[in-house]
Amino acid sequence: MGARYNLRSRRAIVTGGAGGLGRGIAQALIDAGATVELWDANAAALAEAAADLGPAASARHIDITDAAAVEIGAEAAFQSGGRIDILINNAGVLGEVKPVWETSPENFQRVLQVNLFGAYLVTRAVVGRMRAQVPRETAVSQHALRGHIVNIASIQGKEGMALAAAYSASKAGLLALTKSVAKETAKDGIIVTAITPAAAETAMAKEITAERRADILARIPMGRFVEIEEVARMVLWLSSDECSFSTGGIFDLSGGRATY
Ligand SMILES: NC(=O)c1ccc[n+]([C@@H]2O[C@H](COP(=O)([O-])OP(=O)(O)OC[C@H]3O[C@@H](n4cnc5c(N)ncnc54)[C@H](O)[C@@H]3O)[C@@H](O)[C@H]2O)c1
Repeated sequence: MGARYNLRSRRAIVTGGAGGLGRGIAQALIDAGATVELWDANAAALAEAAADLGPAASARHIDITDAAAVEIGAEAAFQSGGRIDILINNAGVLGEVKPVWETSPENFQRVLQVNLFGAYLVTRAVVGRMRAQVPRETAVSQHALRGHIVNIASIQGKEGMALAAAYSASKAGLLALTKSVAKETAKDGIIVTAITPAAAETAMAKEITAERRADILARIPMGRFVEIEEVARMVLWLSSDECSFSTGGIFDLSGGRATY
């Protein structure tokens, strides 16, 4: 899959890299020639993912809601390879699937903490250092690039979704974070984008009931879930030099569910 894009000598971080989509995205980046740091809070899954992905992958055990750990991880990542070209903010949690009046405040806070605050912490730590690195001449674009950041949001961040207020709000926040950081870095050669996938068959999708699953499927005009490889293919383009003028863009991946 990666052969169409040349990411040779590019260094990437994929948060939530031990999970379903993160692993698929990491594989696609590696297939295109990149080396990838997987950042994840689940130590066992992380070790397994890194071993599966082979020598181009490395593992960093980090809870992205821990500001000090994120700072140390970012410093170490830049020190070890000199630069980071690609950041994929992918770590996320679904949280309780309940009407808002039945949810716990702790759950709401935790979902925002991981999906939005965690992405903010990693972005903050990485983008500051990315701005300081030497821009890369590219074979594709005549404009030098310092890096690409891709945020994994959700269709639920655009549309909202019953029984998932915290999750939807966190992803809507992530979309606004994307647009804001894109404006701040637009003259730095840093391209910041987000994708809004419909449901995919990962551990997250298994957390819901059969009834909710059928409801979600019924909302997708194509009548199926998105495949991990389809997510990875879009992220690959958004991480490549081919993507040089789309900063702040929110890219749909919902099988027709979104009409905007
Ligand atoms: N699966 C879907 O249907 C779907 C649809 C749209 C968007 N997404 C988004 O895609 C991303 C990946 O989800 P997935 O489906 O692969 O789920 P997943 O549960 O398989 O993977 C999520 C990964 O994030 C890690 N993680 C959770 N909290 C963390 C923290 N505090 N610090 C570091 N790592 C942490 C988990 O350990 C896990 O490995 C999420 O942001 C999710 O919201 C998923």
